[in-house]
Amino acid sequence: MVSPDNSIKRDENDGADQRALAIALASDLSDRLEIVSEEFLKTEKTKMETINLSHWYNEKRVLAGISLPIFKNKVTAIIGPSGCGKSTFLRDLNRMNDIIPTARISGEVLLDGQNIYDNKIDVVSLRKRVGMVFQRPNPFPMSIENNVAYGPYIHGAQPEELAAIVESTLRKAALWEEVRDRLQDNALSLSGGQQQRLCIARALSVEPEVILFDEPCSALDPHATAKIEDLITNLKKDYTVVIVTHNMQQAARVSDYTTFFNFGELIEFNTTRKIFKSPERKMTEEYISGRFG
Ligand SMILES: Nc1ncnc2c1ncn2[C@@H]1O[C@H](COP(=O)(O)OP(=O)(O)O)[C@@H](O)[C@H]1O
Ligand SMILES: [Mg+2]
Repeated sequence: MVSPDNSIKRDENDGADQRALAIALASDLSDRLEIVSEEFLKTEKTKMETINLSHWYNEKRVLAGISLPIFKNKVTAIIGPSGCGKSTFLRDLNRMNDIIPTARISGEVLLDGQNIYDNKIDVVSLRKRVGMVFQRPNPFPMSIENNVAYGPYIHGAQPEELAAIVESTLRKAALWEEVRDRLQDNALSLSGGQQQRLCIARALSVEPEVILFDEPCSALDPHATAKIEDLITNLKKDYTVVIVTHNMQQAARVSDYTTFFNFGELIEFNTTRKIFKSPERKMTEEYISGRFG
């Protein structure tokens, strides 16, 4: 299948082969993570945490009592079949669902120990701290430079600071070298992969602490996907990352921790290595080995 920007969709070979490769990749993670133990989990710092989070659209409950820690400076992957609530969960982490009138939650979402659904919370500053990158690159229809400068400007950066912010942010997003000579070009003239890195730059421009990625590569070709994955791996030095992906190889390549959702429930959470090599729950094993989803 060829997507609108003529790139080949990476995810069309979803299936058993992909899962087998993911398991093989996860076996190589031992240099990134020690063997799983309760002790190891205790050494992580928790940046965010959901406590018994449930979510409804009208009367339909789509998340059921999710309690999940999100560790600081780590990449956490959320996997699970389509419709199991991954995107809903992700959007609950920065209150993006507030704009959906039928959406309602119970439970808590903590950011540095503070409930983001507390009345005291200012949603604009919350979304500055917890940024988001979506499935389809969605740059603003304006210049490359202004896409990056917009957020800092709105949040009070001085005009004379903006050029330096644009450069340093585009460098962080591994895009500077490709666009430094065309900063005034319309962002929509970039390739799909460049547009997605620009959207990452836009998220980074306001100095977030957590970045949420909802299937950020599903519209990209393998080359562009590899660049985004490298970037995500680098970002965790400075940020906490949560990524929704239905690509098992991607989860195995980029994440330190993986959680498996099904029918709105958290079925299992552990280090990525443990989830792919020897999951505790049969349902996780069946999903990873391609028996459903
Ligand atoms: N805005 C909405 N209004 C009503 N139902 C929704 C809305 N968004 C998602 N849903 C439903 O909630 C469930 C979870 O969806 P979603 O979070 O998008 O799952 P996933 O990202 O895992 O595919 C699905 O049954 C979906 O149809
Ligand atoms: Mg989704």
